[in-house]
Amino acid sequence: MRLKLIVALFAGGVAISSSAFAHEPSHTAMLSNTCNGCHGTDGASAGFNPTVGGTPQTYIIDQMKKFKSGERPSTIMGRLAKAYSDDEIAAIASYYSTHKYVLAKQETDPAKVARGKEIHKERCEKCHEDNGRSGDDGGTIAGQWKDYLKITFQEFREKKREMPKKMAAKIAGEGPLSDADIDALIDFYASQK
Ligand code: HEC
Ligand code: HEC
Repeated sequence: MRLKLIVALFAGGVAISSSAFAHEPSHTAMLSNTCNGCHGTDGASAGFNPTVGGTPQTYIIDQMKKFKSGERPSTIMGRLAKAYSDDEIAAIASYYSTHKYVLAKQETDPAKVARGKEIHKERCEKCHEDNGRSGDDGGTIAGQWKDYLKITFQEFREKKREMPKKMAAKIAGEGPLSDADIDALIDFYASQK
């Protein structure tokens, strides 16, 4: 009963705010209110969903386009991205990119972190610089929630989400990473402070 009410209130809130957007498409802070509902205040996620605040504008725009076209698989973002014009997406992405990136605080296993660090240095640092903090190329991975990273790796390994050929070579090419290796990488990125 109570849950139903909350769900109804949430759905109502979204409907009201999206009709308000139609009249005020340039009000970026308001546009991003809908996003903040899942991605956290100023895009700093409180759990599971990826943190988008403080990530590069170009990366956000690129991913929104991929969600919109269906090139990147999603549970929610595909449908949602279609509701925004390219100009609105550019404005929201610019707004988020100016915020501070907040790394999620998570429990990690020191042995896994050490192993993950080795793999990262050898195979990933070239593109995901500064231990995954620099998101210019492939998105910011340091300090993302483990649950999000887990699903993301699964999508890459099952070829549901596209990755650059050179990244595929590092993950699934010669000497492919094992499940334990991926686990170690996830703890390494989650351990970044
Ligand atoms: C109902 C919850 C929800 C809302 C609202 C939402 N998102 Fe998302 N977002 C997600 C989830 C979940 C994912 C992971 C992909 C998926 O399953 O849809 C995601 C993924 C993303 C990503 C990819 C991040 C990365 O590291 O690759 C970006 C960028 C993004 N969202 C931007 C936005 C923007 C901009 C808005 C507002 C216009 C928004 N989201 C609104 C839940 C949401
Ligand atoms: C040749 C450069 C390159 C290499 C090497 C590389 N990546 Fe990537 N990575 C990318 C790019 C580009 C993307 C964005 C793909 C897209 O457009 O969806 C990405 C995306 C990702 C993402 C998803 C980010 C998000 O927010 O959803 C993860 C996680 C990731 N890479 C992990 C790794 C790991 C782990 C390695 C090493 C085993 C690695 N990458 C090696 C370029 C690279």
